[in-house]
This record gives sequence, C-alpha cells and structure tokens, in this order.
Amino acid sequence: MSSFFDGLYSGRVADLRPSPIREMLHLVRRPGVISFAGGMPDPEAFPVDLFYEAAGILKSQGKDVLQYGTTEGYGPLKDFLIHWTAPRMGRKLEHDEMLITAGSSQVSDLLCWALIDQDDLILIEEPSFLGVFLNMHNHGAKFLTVPCDDEGMMVDLIPEKVERAQKEGKKVKLCYTIANFHNPLGTTLSLERRKKLIEYAHRYGFAIMEDDPYGYVRFEGEHLPTLFSLDDRGVVVYAGSFSKILAPGTRVGWCCGSREIIRKMAIFKQGVDVCTSLVAQALVYEYCRLGHLDSFLPKIIEHYKKKRDAMEDAMREHLPLDLVHWVKPEGGYFYWVKMKGINSDELFKRAVDNQVAFVPGKAFYPNRDGGENELRLCYTFASPEQTQEGMKRLGEAMKGMAG
Ligand SMILES: Cc1ncc(COP(=O)(O)O)c(C=O)c1O
Repeated sequence: MSSFFDGLYSGRVADLRPSPIREMLHLVRRPGVISFAGGMPDPEAFPVDLFYEAAGILKSQGKDVLQYGTTEGYGPLKDFLIHWTAPRMGRKLEHDEMLITAGSSQVSDLLCWALIDQDDLILIEEPSFLGVFLNMHNHGAKFLTVPCDDEGMMVDLIPEKVERAQKEGKKVKLCYTIANFHNPLGTTLSLERRKKLIEYAHRYGFAIMEDDPYGYVRFEGEHLPTLFSLDDRGVVVYAGSFSKILAPGTRVGWCCGSREIIRKMAIFKQGVDVCTSLVAQALVYEYCRLGHLDSFLPKIIEHYKKKRDAMEDAMREHLPLDLVHWVKPEGGYFYWVKMKGINSDELFKRAVDNQVAFVPGKAFYPNRDGGENELRLCYTFASPEQTQEGMKRLGEAMKGMAG
C-alpha cells in the first residue's frame, strides 16, 4: 500500500533493519513462557529506595538541574566519574576527555556520525550486539567480521582482513569490540589479544570503540586492563553505562577518548539531543555522591552470580552434553550455546511450544551469515527456580530434535 511518505523517504530507509529481538519479544511475553531471551536486568536488583533518596537533589538543586545543561555533561557527575573510573582507565581523565551520553548506545551513534561515510568498514566480532550493529548499518557502514573462539575475537585474523580490504581501496575506520563478558558470547578478551588489537589499530590506522557496559559486573577473577589504558596514542573510545550497574531507565552513560574525538562527538550531540537529561544526570550523581553506587554494586554482582550459577547447574543437568558447547562467563548477562546438528530457528519453535524462549544465533551475525546452530541465553531475568524448569523444557526440546 502506498503512503504519503513514499516519495519523501531518505535513501537510508530502503535498507532499514528493525531489531529481530524486539519483534520476537511479543512471542516470549506470553503467560507461562520462561524467557531467557531479552537481555534485561532483574527489577529485583534495582536500588529503588536508594534511588528515591537521591531525588532530594531535585529540591536542593532544582533551579540548576531543571535548566538546559551543557552538551558535555553535568560537571559534578563528570568529577565523580573521573575519580571512580581512574583505576580502570589507568589515570584520572581531564573533563574534555569525557562526554556524558544517553546510555552507551549513544556513544556508537555519535562515533558513527563522526567517522562513518557510506560503505566504510567496521571490524566487528562475529557474533556481536545487534543493537549497536544495526545502528551502524543504518549509518551506511559495512562489516568486516572477525570470528571468535572461547577467548573472544581471534585478533590474529585482523591483519590479513584489513590488508585485503585496503588493497581493494576500502577504508577500515573502526573496530567495535565488547572485550568484557561479551554480548552475546559471554567471553572475555585475553590480555595478549588486547595488546595485539591495540598494536593492529596503530599499525593500520583504525580507531577502536571499547563497549563496556558489563565490565563492572564481574563475579570472580581479576579485572583485565581496559583497551583504553593499554593505548598511548588516543585511538580508543571507551563507552561505559549506568544501565547494568544502576538501572537502564536512567539512560545515562559516558565515553572517554582523546579531546579531539570527544569534541567532534559533542558537536554532533548538540544537534541530536542538546544534552543528556540533566534531571537524570543529577539523580545519578546524587545516588553516587551518597555512596550508593559503591555500596549497592556488590549486591547486584552477588545477585547475578547466583543466577549465573543456577543456569550453569541447570545446563549441566538438563542439556544433552554431547551435543552442546559453552563457555562459563565470569561476569555479565549471557551464555552462548553452540550445538551439533540442531538448528536454532527450529529449536525456537519447539521451545516456545514447550513454554521456554531464547534468542536464535542468526540475529547476532552482522552480515546475516551464520549462527544457525547457536543460541543466546540470558540468565539475569528468570529466578533460579524458573531457570531449572526452563532448562528442563529446553533440554527436552533439544533431545526431541536430536532424534
Ligand atoms: C554490548 C552492549 N552495548 C550497549 C548496550 C546498551 O547500553 P545502554 O543501555 O547504556 O545504552 C547493551 C545493552 O544491552 C549491550 O549489551
């Protein structure tokens, strides 16, 4: 059916890709379905009362925080973050090396505005987080995908891929990576690979976006150095977020990078949304100032560690172990399951009939090529009891397909 807008759309609309997960969520929200699908935090892990306490700032600072804010971000929140992030950034940043954003999703958007022309190439883990790569696609980017193993991105494959692309006259502008507790893989990039990735970025002249919304949600083991802290030439833009360490409804995130790139991103942000809601930034700041970020974060970590353990136990008990492979994540939200001879789209249909849901692997492949025998499970949302029952149902569906 034709509509008034048909003659008005931009060229980009012809190739617009909606999120298959958002479309699928209707199916899995049916009563009785145990969902391991959406990557949402557990509302039980939201610090509702502590956040409400922070609302006092709306009275004490109301005349300031109800005003337009600067695009670069609310000064007191930046002061806090500069101090709080210093151990992982390797140093205390200057104010003009940080930009407050509407979640970390906005970081990739602004970076695309600043770096990406039609058909420019972005190196990206395969599979990866579709929320970001669909937006990159909408900016006109093409993907140079890098396969992953149990340690994450196989960075040794980068030189050959980049050299071939450069010989063909293509521009490789950016590498997008989720080095900690990858979405969807659950893997963490080893230190050796981190160092190599930085070396390749220097050698071939591409920038890196280090997307790290899960980095602080580590259940065990030591934090690995951020790519940002390993780089001495300013090629890394680090993206952080309050979505997983406080609550996604805040829509407050941040990024760190060289003055030059932060300035360009801030200029694009002026046109996109003027500034991140100053009310939201002030509430988040007050929550942090009162000490609640530091006191409540260990509770969030403990909460999700229990859920990760419940899923690990349930998988071992109920899945056909000769047909599946996974890596136990040391943090974050996700398991990625590779299956032998089981198609994940087919399995999804059977699983939904069995009242359990997951996301089939194909959705996470940036070039829509792969993932047929893979699936993502999110352990943060279901209770440990639901996880037991859900995994039993999933195991039955898998065994039914295996013959
Ligand atoms: C890898 C990754 N990046 C970014 C985001 C979005 O974060 P935010 O809520 O800060 O925009 C998510 C959320 O699921 C994610 O998994």
